[in-house]
Amino acid sequence: MSASEYQFNQKHLLGLTDYSKEDILYVLDQAKYFREILDRPVPKVPTLRDKTIVNLFYENSTRTRLSFELAQKRMGADVVNFSASTSSTKKGESLKDTIQNISSMKIDMVVVRHESPGVPHFLTKCVDAAILNAGDGAHEHPTQALLDMFTMQQIHPDLSGKKIAIIGDISHSRVVRSNIIGLTKLGAKVVICGPKTLMPVFVSDLGVSVSHNLEETLAWCDIAMALRIQLERQGNTTELFPTLREYHERFGIKLKHLEAYPDFKIMHPGPINRGVELESEVADSDRAVILNQVTNGVAVRMAALYLLSGGNRV
Ligand code: NCD
Repeated sequence: MSASEYQFNQKHLLGLTDYSKEDILYVLDQAKYFREILDRPVPKVPTLRDKTIVNLFYENSTRTRLSFELAQKRMGADVVNFSASTSSTKKGESLKDTIQNISSMKIDMVVVRHESPGVPHFLTKCVDAAILNAGDGAHEHPTQALLDMFTMQQIHPDLSGKKIAIIGDISHSRVVRSNIIGLTKLGAKVVICGPKTLMPVFVSDLGVSVSHNLEETLAWCDIAMALRIQLERQGNTTELFPTLREYHERFGIKLKHLEAYPDFKIMHPGPINRGVELESEVADSDRAVILNQVTNGVAVRMAALYLLSGGNRV
């Protein structure tokens, strides 16, 4: 079926678990159109000019929040931003009351980030608006995985059979969960790599291969995605690995790896801990496509907002 005939029937973007391979490919295909718009002298379209969107951020965010807001403004939406640190949440208001109050203001779409897994699902029960998950605890971060897959497609248009390594703090990462779900649906081969202590307990349930050897993994892969060591989610880090320096020694990607294995490209969802996941020169090298990920993030979020708004692309 051609992309123009495809019936996209999703109401929300809660996670990639609920999206079929065809849904994912369709969002990525639509994102190509919006990526081109971003290169125009006036990178704006009126697609969402009659829509009101609230961005509800209960957890810190730089890239994701700015990227969603930019995507919404590039499409002419009315945007309101809510940040937990400056709201009545501090006065004890519950999430349900907050969202029902916001909803009484006639909101069409809600973008939500929260430290508790399942909050985006909960919101679908409380309000009528389309809900987009911008990260819920260590559960899912679907727009990040979509922008990662879009960036991978720029390198390898067909991801089927491509070898993707995801390296680092697997157990605390929502980015890896969404990527594994999406990439395996597209037929990519995924290896997760890191110390045993940063692997989830039920690692075999993820349905991907596991490696504890960085060199072997880099020799194998087409693309290596490094993940941030999530110090804020780990509690007492000394129980998980001795020092950040030792982590870098064993699992940090370094210039010597770029020389030894000349083919793989490097990705990172940000924020990077320079000198931990990546040697600083590696992050700045021409093998890294990290800033492309950020640019593509705006286009992918434009595509998701457009598809879930039920409107016309214009
Ligand atoms: C990620 C997140 O918040 O889950 N970052 C992002 O959205 N760009 C990864 C991280 O925090 O390390």
